[in-house]
Amino acid sequence: MKVAVIGCGYVGLTTGAALAYLGHEVIGVDKDESKLDLLMKRESPIHEQGLGELLKDDDCGITFTADTAGAVADAEVIMIAVGTPQKENGEANTYYVEEAAREVAAGLKDGRSYTLVIKSTVPIGTNRRVAHVVRRALAERGIEVWVNFASNPEFLREGMALRDTFYPDRIVVGAESPEAVEALRRLYRPFLEQTFEPPIFLPRPEGYGLPPLITTDPTSAEMIKYASNAFLAVKISFINEIAGLCDKVGADVTEVARGMGLDPRIGSRFLGAGLGWGGSCFPKDTAALLAVGTEYGYTMPIVQAARDVNARQRLLILEKLQAALKVLRGRTIGVLGLSFKPNTDDVRESPALDVIRLLSERGAHVQAHDPVAVPRAVEALKGLEVEFKESPYEAAAGADALILATEWDEYRYLDLKELARRMRNPVLVDGRNIYRREEAEDAGLTYMGVGR
Ligand code: UDX
Repeated sequence: MKVAVIGCGYVGLTTGAALAYLGHEVIGVDKDESKLDLLMKRESPIHEQGLGELLKDDDCGITFTADTAGAVADAEVIMIAVGTPQKENGEANTYYVEEAAREVAAGLKDGRSYTLVIKSTVPIGTNRRVAHVVRRALAERGIEVWVNFASNPEFLREGMALRDTFYPDRIVVGAESPEAVEALRRLYRPFLEQTFEPPIFLPRPEGYGLPPLITTDPTSAEMIKYASNAFLAVKISFINEIAGLCDKVGADVTEVARGMGLDPRIGSRFLGAGLGWGGSCFPKDTAALLAVGTEYGYTMPIVQAARDVNARQRLLILEKLQAALKVLRGRTIGVLGLSFKPNTDDVRESPALDVIRLLSERGAHVQAHDPVAVPRAVEALKGLEVEFKESPYEAAAGADALILATEWDEYRYLDLKELARRMRNPVLVDGRNIYRREEAEDAGLTYMGVGR
């Protein structure tokens, strides 16, 4: 099928490249010139596992342009995947979505039919609003075009975005017309039936079954996306809240999570206590969900509490550190990991950066390391005096404490004795609970985890 994807960010680019690999004729649209330059050279503007390889793959015939109207004219399916940044009151800003919809409408051809899909995470009711914008623009042009609208939220995790695209848990389509559902069923058939040849670097996970296609109305589809992200954020905040109590009573939250997770009604995933959640989705989507509630005069105390616990989590680590070192002013603190989670260079709402800001406010000197996120962290921490080091061992050198903030694989097998040897004061704050207390203590480190 001919597909135009408007917006080549995480979602648009991953989806577009994957659809092109399946054999669809995909054109990606982006207005950002520097991004477009890279894309034209088939280079990925973001650090995302496998994406660079996929863009270079001969089977992935995706092309790029800055011209929305030109890209959509001959498309059968048009996907809007532009950003929905957070407004000051927490609401998601749909300005770019509506602008994209107007540009799309300007390119549609008289007498043709299209399926217009919203992939961006948008507030409840946006699909209806976009339909209105497009229909009005078409009426102004005085042409007759059949547009079938669909909401098709994505559930991609950064760092695993391609895996989640090729092997999804479910595909959700919210549409009022059967034509839109049929178009998306055709588009996604190779994923639904798993009939494609997996890319070499992305083998089909063992035991992976076929993903269900969930068809529903557009409003419910929009809600599925927000409710899923909010639920996961609540789950993490819940275990973080339990972790705080474990610290008080002397229990180990990793043991508690293991025992809880074996109950299939609870499940073991997203029960990892630590510095809390960050990234481009959970913070923004929980705020947006609360804003929708406010708009309708409805409070959502559980979602609010998940956010409060998450904010407190960063402070708790600082308090632990302060208890161990007494004074933070003038201390040197090493920080391992800057991205909001491993396998990405994304530092948006990263707990690591929040901790660094708090440390700086309290007069500590920070020396940090990250395998890939340093350039983005430098930008985000502008104005703060942070030293960036080439290796985790250099970040530990001369430090009064070392905080492990992001669980990159390369931090899982550190030579703890060497770390302890290099530090002025060998305190390890394991903000992601990846080490066992005994192994750290055997290496000569004072160990502090989260909730253990
Ligand atoms: C999330 C959703 O998982 C995805 O489905 C949605 O489409 C976008 O938002 P992402 O933000 O990429 O994806 O990351 P995710 O792996 O979900 O982690 C989010 C945050 O939670 C990270 O900061 C991570 O460190 C934290 N986390 C995750 C925990 O603190 N504990 C856990 O057990 C799991």
